[in-house]
Amino acid sequence: MQTKTLEPLFDFATMPSPMLNSNGLTGQDILSVSQFDRDTLSYIFGRAREMREMVERVGGVDLLKGKVLACLFYEPSTRTSSSFIAAMERLGGSVIPITQGVKFSSISKGETLADTIRVLEQYADVIVLRHPEIGSAREAAEAASVPVLNAGDGPGEHPTQALLDLFTIREELGTVDGLKVAMVGDLRYGRTVHSLTKLLLQYNVSLRFVAPEILRLPLKVMNEVIDSGLNVRETHDVADVIENADVLYVTRVQKERFTDLAQYEEVKNYYEITPEIMAMAKKKMVVMHPLPRVGEIHDSVDSDPRAAYFRQVRNGMYIRMALLAAVLGRA
Ligand code: NCD
Repeated sequence: MQTKTLEPLFDFATMPSPMLNSNGLTGQDILSVSQFDRDTLSYIFGRAREMREMVERVGGVDLLKGKVLACLFYEPSTRTSSSFIAAMERLGGSVIPITQGVKFSSISKGETLADTIRVLEQYADVIVLRHPEIGSAREAAEAASVPVLNAGDGPGEHPTQALLDLFTIREELGTVDGLKVAMVGDLRYGRTVHSLTKLLLQYNVSLRFVAPEILRLPLKVMNEVIDSGLNVRETHDVADVIENADVLYVTRVQKERFTDLAQYEEVKNYYEITPEIMAMAKKKMVVMHPLPRVGEIHDSVDSDPRAAYFRQVRNGMYIRMALLAAVLGRA
């Protein structure tokens, strides 16, 4: 039999290591949007686009093979937990899902958050945490030696959601600078609003906050907006903003954060985006929602090409793939 020496497919000596540039994210916790500058955002968005292309072409790769994600959710979640699980699995990693609330875990026996984290990091290379208290993600990160990703700390922040929201605006409208962004609904307790607002302060946008009196944006966040010098207005009425908005970011009234349910009842149906309202909006505009919706956007808006909320969900998976790869040093 005639043999022939084949040229090697790869020259391993000169091949770049898998620890490529991750824009300083390797080993980092993701706790707040304040840790991202424009440069890091553009890196993450670039990676997310590559993830989209990869998923559309081949569905998944083995980039995170051998890596384990612990998904620890102390609050209900469908999309954020599934989004992280799908992201990890499409990159070839595996998941410990603790997403059925805490009643089946030792947390219900009284274990502290720090102990739970120290146990989980013995199994996992990265931890995603959702918890009802502000500051819980930071507390977990202090206890952990592996990266902790904040998937919502009570009414505090939800940084990965804000990244996917901003990415969606960018992908839908081609740019962020120069846009008028109107946020509608529960601006007081909506952590996605708090994170997205802070992230938008890095861009040249106009902000419109639309909420009933008791659900206005917290003073602390509003002061940051005012300090940024951006053009900002508050109103109770969607009609005041609909004609000029480029982005209508609608949110659910966060029933679980109310101490007085009578107050919730008063504001729960305050807004509903309908085709009639959409008729007043620009032709090129996007309606977004972090979901779940409970009546703030009528189903008949779904067929409007400007309704971006399901595309937004899909973007969430690409963003989380980009983040998991980056913090695990597999950029
Ligand atoms: C949001 C959340 O949990 O803050 N949901 C989500 O992560 N997509 C918004 C909400 O629950 O209303």
